[in-house]
Formats: sequence, C-alpha cells, structure tokens
Amino acid sequence: MPTHRIRISPSILSADFTRLGEEIRMVERAGADMIHVDVMDGHFVPNITLGPVIVSAVRRATDLPIDAHLMITDPDVYALSFVEAGADYVVFHSEACPEPRRLLDVIRDAGARPGLAINPPNPAEQIEPFLSEIDLALVMTVNPGFSGQSFIEEVMPKLAQIAGWKRERGLDFAIEVDGGIGPATARLAASNGAEVLVAASAIFCAEDPPAALREIRAAGEQALI
Ligand code: DX5
Ligand code: ZN
Repeated sequence: MPTHRIRISPSILSADFTRLGEEIRMVERAGADMIHVDVMDGHFVPNITLGPVIVSAVRRATDLPIDAHLMITDPDVYALSFVEAGADYVVFHSEACPEPRRLLDVIRDAGARPGLAINPPNPAEQIEPFLSEIDLALVMTVNPGFSGQSFIEEVMPKLAQIAGWKRERGLDFAIEVDGGIGPATARLAASNGAEVLVAASAIFCAEDPPAALREIRAAGEQALI
C-alpha cells in the first residue's frame, strides 16, 4: 500500500461551464480532493479566464477546498477578492508581486492558505526564501496560459530539489504540479516529490472523467510504493 496519499485537484478550466455545478459534483464523487481555479488576466499570461465570480459559484457547489491559481500581474490588488469569494488556497507567482512576503501574510491573515507558483524556466531559488511561510508550492510543468499543453519533463530536477528542501528542513507545505498531468506524467511527477496533482484536460475531456481521475491518482500512488 502507498505510504502517502496523492491528492487530485481537477482544474475546471476544461469543464463544461454550461453545467459547472454538475461537473464539480462529478469530480467530487470520483474522489477529487480540491478544485483548482485558473485565474488569468491577459497580462501575466496571454489568455483571459476566470475570476472571483466563478470562485464563489464553485464555493456554492462544493465543500472541497478551492485552490485559486492567480496568473495575474497584480496579485496584491486582487488576492483578497478571491479569499472573500471562498478560496481556501490562494496561490500567486512571486515575480508578479513586489513584496511576496507581505502578500503571503495578508492572505493568511484573511483566513486563507497562501501559496507560491513557479514557472518552468525559473529556478527553485525564486521561492526558497518563502518556503516556511507557504502552505502550497505550485510547480508549473507547462508555461501557464492554456490547458492541454505537453508536460515539460525538464522541470523534474527542480521539483525534486524543492521536495528535498521540504524533507531536509522539516517543512510542511504541500507540493503541487500543474500542467500536462495524465497517468504517465502523474507517476513521474509523484516520483519526484509531487503530492497534489492538478489536471484539466486529462479529466474533463476524458470519455469517462471519474475513471480518468482515479487512473491519475493510482498512477501517482504507484510511484510511492
Ligand atoms: C495552465 C493552468 C493549468 C491548466 C492545466 O496555465 O495553470 O492549471 O489548466 O491544464 P492541463 O491539465 O490540460 O494541462
Ligand atoms: Zn493552474
């Protein structure tokens, strides 16, 4: 039996928004651990997606923790509106914020769990100074902007490096990977230290989304045996 349980955070970016509540209940019944909401502003990334209105709709549809991933240039301006909308985790990219430490405190003081995300080309050192102050380290395995892209395997040494720091320093943030996750890449990511797997297209675009979710989790847990 696996010693650790892999958590799955389906990203609603690939859900059918005409039936968002049903889509969320479907993944919840299939065993989803969190719901990932991809927030893009057309500046930090070349796409515009979801905002606090959707987070509050997700909040009404489920009691699962909501993991809001802010891919925006002004997280310090907008983070609190996501907490108010009901996000449990608010994750931002530190390069978009002049004072990341201050924003981590603001998010925590508002009652949510703060996290930092790191893009594929950026070194692990970008988030190292903050590791004792975050609840979630989100390691991007695609360049953010769109679902359905291919997993960038070159990120694995960085993932392993962050997992190593966590172990050596006895820290307790969760390590999440996001982008191109399906059964094969889930296993690879989990074997390099990922604990929470985000997946959009591999779940919501599958013929049988509950089976796809279970397959991704099982593949991740295989890596821990
Ligand atoms: C990428 C987003 C991801 C994305 C994942 O910019 O942050 O969460 O929706 O999509 P898939 O799982 O299809 O790669
Ligand atoms: Zn995301």
